Amino acid sequence: MKPLEVARDIYSVGAIDWNIRDFHGYSTYQGTTYNAYLIIDDKITLIDTVKREFADELLNNISEIIDPKKIDYVISNHTEMDHSGALPRIMHRIGEDKPLFCSKLGHKNLSLHFHEKWNYKPMESGGELNLGKKNLVFLETRMLHWPDSMFTYVKEEKLLLSSDAFGQHYAGAERFDDEIGDAIMPHAQKYFANILLLYSPLILKLVNKVTDMGLAIDTICPDHGIIWRKDPNKIIQAYVEWSKQKPKKKALVVYDTMWESTRKMAETIVDAINDEGIEAKSMHLRSWHRSEIMTEVLDAGAVIVGSPTINNGLFPTVSDFLTYMKGLRPQNKIGAAFCSYGWSGEAMNLINKELESMKFEIVDPGVKIQFVPDKEGLEACNRLGKKIGQRLSDLS
Ligand code: FEO
Repeated sequence: MKPLEVARDIYSVGAIDWNIRDFHGYSTYQGTTYNAYLIIDDKITLIDTVKREFADELLNNISEIIDPKKIDYVISNHTEMDHSGALPRIMHRIGEDKPLFCSKLGHKNLSLHFHEKWNYKPMESGGELNLGKKNLVFLETRMLHWPDSMFTYVKEEKLLLSSDAFGQHYAGAERFDDEIGDAIMPHAQKYFANILLLYSPLILKLVNKVTDMGLAIDTICPDHGIIWRKDPNKIIQAYVEWSKQKPKKKALVVYDTMWESTRKMAETIVDAINDEGIEAKSMHLRSWHRSEIMTEVLDAGAVIVGSPTINNGLFPTVSDFLTYMKGLRPQNKIGAAFCSYGWSGEAMNLINKELESMKFEIVDPGVKIQFVPDKEGLEACNRLGKKIGQRLSDLS
């Protein structure tokens, strides 16, 4: 990714990762970028770095603008190694004594990652730093995405360096929102659903705080994907809406199957929901990646989960999905379970227990069928689907 001036004397100097397809369990079918930014001022400042293996690309990009040794300050907005992995190379190159600004928890977490005695300058939230012509303000954003996360705001340019927030895992020729248009929104939504969903209450608080502070924002520069310069409010408002987790009249039937019994049950439930005039999707867990399903979960009103019973338990992909979804803490859902089994049939209750622990409203005890569903069994699935469909119809 070539260096690019994104605002007056502020350059994007990060790296593009065309080939990554699995970002710690998130399917990145369109790659990603690790954005880093260079401010040219009396004090030349680098904000964030890139994943370790992209350090050469970062250094080459910086070198097209200035000699990296001229960097005076480094700011780490977030410790996670997709943004800090190249820090040891950078510090070694520019001088290990150069000031490294971060949050207090950034100091702690960077120390625990790299075990180096760098010249840390932990900053309070609201702390300011003068670079010469430009002034920076730091704003702690704990848990967006990690406890150490913070934003850096460039006052003169009304530009927010937002770290993970407002990002998207997307590698492409486009660098700005006006170049890609609405095609970026599904990537932003997937990123929110799989990385930030559990922090929805904090996001709503943060947006209120930024509004209260009266920070005007002309440009948002996240650490992944495109930069929001045409309409930064669009992604802020999308975050507000996604954070509210208002359920839509939409159901997902998520399942796996061994000998097609659970599939037949799933598809009967989907048909019955659709018959009620409600959108329902069948999502087989070995055809859909967990992160694609989670993106659909974001605005679904109902999630119905099915599994064969195997060795007295859940099918492994079903366990995987439930664990993943539970960690992301979706809110305001109704749920139900169904299972097929040979002789013991524990899967249904295990699913119900997991959905209950996620505070889903369980609208029916579920359907459990031994071996292969007959007409009566499929009618029970049909009744379950109709019940779900009717409940979703009642949503405002
Ligand atoms: Fe892109 Fe939390 O790292």
